[in-house]
Amino acid sequence: MTQPVFSHMLGQHKSDIIRLYAETYPEKDVKKAELCADLIDVPTIAGLSGYVGCKLAGFILAQQVCPSSDIIELIVAPSFRRIGIAAGLLDALVALSQSRNISELFLEVAEDNEAAQALYLTCGFQNVGKRNRYYQRDGHSIDAIIMQKSL
Ligand SMILES: CC(C)(COP(=O)(O)OP(=O)(O)OC[C@H]1O[C@@H](n2cnc3c(N)ncnc32)[C@H](O)[C@@H]1OP(=O)(O)O)[C@@H](O)C(=O)NCCC(=O)NCCS
Repeated sequence: MTQPVFSHMLGQHKSDIIRLYAETYPEKDVKKAELCADLIDVPTIAGLSGYVGCKLAGFILAQQVCPSSDIIELIVAPSFRRIGIAAGLLDALVALSQSRNISELFLEVAEDNEAAQALYLTCGFQNVGKRNRYYQRDGHSIDAIIMQKSL
């Protein structure tokens, strides 16, 4: 397989972001996918993509307000999972954050999202708290685990 290329996301990538978001969360309104893609226009948002050839394999979005950064979206396409795309995106975000004097990364992850929790623990994040009933899903609520990584 061609090696993934990690780089900054630009306006031309929006349609790929919308497609991947909608594929990952088919239960959500397509407007959410469009809102997600529009975030790359926000000055305080860092957006990084991982392309394999001309296919968007994954992307990450983080709000960056020095000295901390909050990861607000991370998605890898099912056909590109478990080959290190998310870990590569997190490494690229760490490098970008360090170049901007950011010293801490934070994120929220659903308590039942074992794949993402395993990823973040592997990448050096630790559990630092919980937000009760943070996510609403199918008429019930799920707690979020707050994770942090010092840079
Ligand atoms: C979670 C997600 C981003 C992981 O992406 P990925 O590119 O497959 O992850 P990587 O290949 O970089 O995995 C790196 C390590 O994380 C851990 N990991 C990743 N996915 C895992 C899984 N399904 N089960 C257990 N461990 C997992 C492993 O330690 C893995 O290393 P290994 O493959 O050598 O064992 C992806 O499954 C995804 O997009 N899920 C849907 C959206 C989502 O949940 N996003 C996170 C919201 S907080």
